[in-house]
Amino acid sequence: MALEIKWFETIDSTNYEAFRQIETAKDFTTYAAKFQTSGRGQKGNSWESAVGKNLTFSILIRPTLLKATDQFLVSQIVALGIVKYLESFKIKAKIKWPNDIYVGNRKICGILIEHYLSGANLSVSILGIGVNLNQREFASDAPNPTSLLLETGEEHLLDNELKEILTFIKEYYDKLNVKAYKTFKEVTEKSYIESLYKFGEFAYYQETDSEVIFESRITGIDKNACLVLEKRDGTKKSYAFKEIRYLLNH
Ligand code: BTN
Repeated sequence: MALEIKWFETIDSTNYEAFRQIETAKDFTTYAAKFQTSGRGQKGNSWESAVGKNLTFSILIRPTLLKATDQFLVSQIVALGIVKYLESFKIKAKIKWPNDIYVGNRKICGILIEHYLSGANLSVSILGIGVNLNQREFASDAPNPTSLLLETGEEHLLDNELKEILTFIKEYYDKLNVKAYKTFKEVTEKSYIESLYKFGEFAYYQETDSEVIFESRITGIDKNACLVLEKRDGTKKSYAFKEIRYLLNH
């Protein structure tokens, strides 16, 4: 099936545009923009991207066969789709939980997903994705950014790369949005862990409401999609997204 992509020169945010079309958009319609005036990031941050340099887009999907409790699976397939796309350039990318995409210690892609429920199932998910494609220099407050250009040494065409990325994500999505997705769920969770940034490696972390820096390693993700950290003395604790910070340059 042909991909449905709607391009905008300038828009407030492609996530907002997808939301405006929530009643009528077909499953897997993509809204992409050369520039967003109110690009949104995680934790209420803004998402900055130089005009016409990067991919900023949102995919509206209707994962109606998925239980609302399985919404983290959507996040996992999006992240894995991006990792596979980057692998096609021989780039070994990792997923920084829950869904930042890193090359080494540098962020190449950010993902902001918004879910809408209908009873016990998902009804619509808006998958907002920003991939740094052709940007060389970034604002100083951007955390360790990189781009496909910086990693490959070559410029890339926005619309070609968007179609490529969508193909990788759609391949996962088509396997996920089926009645019997239990087996695919297990495979996905395993691939996600295998691609997890800092998995099993001792590194430094800080609880959001504390000054204390501590050393731990990631041992997994619990059933609530929280990050499980283990200290050197073997004690474990789970963290929700807003409760923990990675200290990348410690
Ligand atoms: C993050 O903070 O890492 C998430 C960034 C998500 C940015 C993308 S760009 C396309 C879509 N529209 C937005 O306003 N945000 C997402």
